[in-house]
Amino acid sequence: MKTVRFGLIGCGLMGREFASAAARWCHLLEAAARPQILAACSAHDTSLRWFRENVPSLTQTTLDYRELLQNPEVDVVYVAVPHHLHQEVCCAAIEAGKHLMGEKPFGIDREANEAILTAARRHPEVFVRCSSEFPFFPGIQRLCDLLEQNAFGRIIEANTGLLHSSDLDPHKPINWKRMVEFNGEYGVLGDLGMHALHVPLRAGWRPSNLRAVLSKIVKQRPDGRGNLVPCTTWDNGLLLMETLDPANGEPFPWTVKVQRIAPGHRNTWYTEVLGTRASARWSSANPRLLEVMHYTPGGEQKWEQIQTGYEPTFRAMTGAIFEFGFSDCMLQMWAAFLHELVHGKPLKRFAGCVTPEETALSHRLFTAALESQRQGATVALEDKC
Ligand SMILES: NC(=O)c1ccc[n+]([C@@H]2O[C@H](COP(=O)([O-])OP(=O)(O)OC[C@H]3O[C@@H](n4cnc5c(N)ncnc54)[C@H](O)[C@@H]3O)[C@@H](O)[C@H]2O)c1
Repeated sequence: MKTVRFGLIGCGLMGREFASAAARWCHLLEAAARPQILAACSAHDTSLRWFRENVPSLTQTTLDYRELLQNPEVDVVYVAVPHHLHQEVCCAAIEAGKHLMGEKPFGIDREANEAILTAARRHPEVFVRCSSEFPFFPGIQRLCDLLEQNAFGRIIEANTGLLHSSDLDPHKPINWKRMVEFNGEYGVLGDLGMHALHVPLRAGWRPSNLRAVLSKIVKQRPDGRGNLVPCTTWDNGLLLMETLDPANGEPFPWTVKVQRIAPGHRNTWYTEVLGTRASARWSSANPRLLEVMHYTPGGEQKWEQIQTGYEPTFRAMTGAIFEFGFSDCMLQMWAAFLHELVHGKPLKRFAGCVTPEETALSHRLFTAALESQRQGATVALEDKC
């Protein structure tokens, strides 16, 4: 199996998730290539220590990402840094000729996103993708198969979202994700939004107008040093979009709910599509369960409950009766990235990482959402975002 040599820039939560996925690559039965992590860069030596202790293939650690980009051994760079650094670091990686997996939102704002896409267009030899792992759950892959087959008929309504709840606790200390200067004006939209958009954008859904209601609920948080400091980002976002179905050009309402304060929801990623011929819904709150209803006119309206098992897109050693979880999604997403890097196209339409063009669509929606919130009105997306 071909080995692809990686450098990581950003060694926090997501950097470690990737290192863990790479460490259990033997779990996969038919990967296109194997990642080997050679280099790691972080702002602090403390986060590099974990990598030195846990990644035996590491040959370079540095506090300066430019040094990592100069390493000729590194083929691909994974950039998992706070949002205000996405443009600078992603553009530098592309200009250095490194293939890139970036993190969402792929630029702190639309301008930063356009700068990354411009760099990518200047370097078509560089493979560029953005991370999003939830669509790799087997239940949602089955729902995506129904989208691929146009099985829903006319779409009546669709709802997608990602709901968190730990910010309900006003005593939770602040971090960069709750500060506009690091997370961006989008707030929760930039942080969680791409998760709710990946499948719909891949399905070709293009909103023609949008109404957003954004909420700031907890306005101050402890800074961990005995002070209360402003919490400047939007906590929750609700978007209602009139959307065109590419299968038949018919409009349907699509809601996107991204919330940091959704009481009781730990990490609920959901997709629901209701159609005239079929309907389906899946949620990470109950990840084995896929609910589907097939309807023929005049027939019974019966929801089926299907227990999905360990049925990954990229075959793996775990038996099909067992449970599939978040770290399996990460492994599958990285297998998808390497598959597309090696073969030039995804294994199937909904088994690919987010493309730069899809990130640009997400930024158009988030920018329109801020505008809608400012005006308190529906915003038209003239070029049918
Ligand atoms: N795909 C997902 O499910 C998911 C989940 C969480 C976060 N994210 C995204 O991943 C990215 C990182 O988030 P995180 O949760 O890992 O953050 P984190 O705070 O845990 O880690 C950020 C890392 O970046 C490093 N860093 C900061 N400045 C740097 C610099 N100048 N040079 C090199 N390294 C620097 C920090 O030292 C730290 O190691 C963000 O874009 C975030 O939105 C994605």
